[in-house]
Amino acid sequence: MRRSIVKKIKKTLNWESFTKNYQAKDGVNCRWRIAQRPVGNVQPEDFAWTEEPIPTPKDGEVLLETMYLGLAPVMRMYMMGTDRTGDKHQQIGDVIRGRGVAKIIESKHPDWKVGDIVQGSIGWQTYCVSSMTSQEKFFKVTTHDLPYSLASGVLGMNGLSAYAGFFICGEPRKDDVTVISGAAGGVGSLIVQMARITESKRVIGIAGGAEKCEFLKVLGCDETIDYKSESVPERLKELCPNGIDFYFDNVGGEILTACLENLAMNARIVLCGSISEYTRETPFGLTNYTRLRAVEGKMGGFFVYNHVHRWEEFTNKMADWIRAGKITPVQDIVQGFESMPAALSRLFEGKNVGVQCCQVRPEPVR
Ligand SMILES: NC(=O)c1ccc[n+]([C@@H]2O[C@H](COP(=O)([O-])OP(=O)(O)OC[C@H]3O[C@@H](n4cnc5c(N)ncnc54)[C@H](OP(=O)(O)O)[C@@H]3O)[C@@H](O)[C@H]2O)c1
Repeated sequence: MRRSIVKKIKKTLNWESFTKNYQAKDGVNCRWRIAQRPVGNVQPEDFAWTEEPIPTPKDGEVLLETMYLGLAPVMRMYMMGTDRTGDKHQQIGDVIRGRGVAKIIESKHPDWKVGDIVQGSIGWQTYCVSSMTSQEKFFKVTTHDLPYSLASGVLGMNGLSAYAGFFICGEPRKDDVTVISGAAGGVGSLIVQMARITESKRVIGIAGGAEKCEFLKVLGCDETIDYKSESVPERLKELCPNGIDFYFDNVGGEILTACLENLAMNARIVLCGSISEYTRETPFGLTNYTRLRAVEGKMGGFFVYNHVHRWEEFTNKMADWIRAGKITPVQDIVQGFESMPAALSRLFEGKNVGVQCCQVRPEPVR
């Protein structure tokens, strides 16, 4: 029933005409709230726009002005109330949870000053009052020589996900044959470059479409697989005749299955995400995990928020790699707070290249 209603509405509303109905402005707090639980990819009707007075900070709080917001597949789970992040599940009517970069414009907090640029849990809103508790995971942005937009992606939780998933959980080795799915996405585009840093023998990126595959070659892949037009099992056999040493999995489903069928001895698989499964009605059932046995392989997951204690180590290393040209940040920035819902939908349509973020206000002059 719900499904047919969604299909009907889809015919009448597209993202462009929906987004044009809204315009963020200063002097009022614009917010995106959950209007209904998404079915399939997010639809315009799943979002509600509200305009409210700018909140006033109390003692121990600051007022933040949003500059950038990051987009991540997990936000659809927040909207569904099904995420496993450990935070309270969101309800219909709630301001959608999310992280971004903001400037402190008023402070009644002893440790945070007006003018500080911070990144943390701001939510989908143009102003935010926060008591800056550890729950909201706020950090001062200290990389003033780099664009602040990076703090909503490559130098934010997206970058920490790649760093922790690859270096801490992945045990990468020199001369690995490394395969990465979702390779042109936010985390994936970093993993491709990290595999170059650890001197993989061969880096193979899997992505949807010829354009993305061409882009992956420029980024550092030796070979690519366009999963939308090629057979992944066949191409893996061709490209990895001695098997995969390291597979970084961003998508799960059939691509994970195909990689499990083609492992080298002592292969390692990192389960980062499974975006190909998120919008399915029936959960995907992995049946061939036992392929790990014969090759004495390891498959393990990780959760970025368990690695927040590595924040300083991660930002220092990532910023140095960027300055040294070892990592090229790939960011896909949409303009205007009103574009947030459309930007989230892009992730599930494969429209983004690199980290999807949204610029809410201009970069401050430095
Ligand atoms: N474990 C953790 O703590 C953690 C932290 C961050 C992110 N993650 C997960 O890591 C993955 C990557 O996250 P991200 O933020 O960097 O997102 P992302 O890769 O930028 O996500 C969007 C990309 O996913 C691909 N995609 C979408 N639907 C797909 C499908 N049905 N099959 C195959 N690919 C599909 C699309 O690329 P194509 O055009 O190539 O299809 C799209 O551009 C996600 O699964 C996310 O949930 C996990």
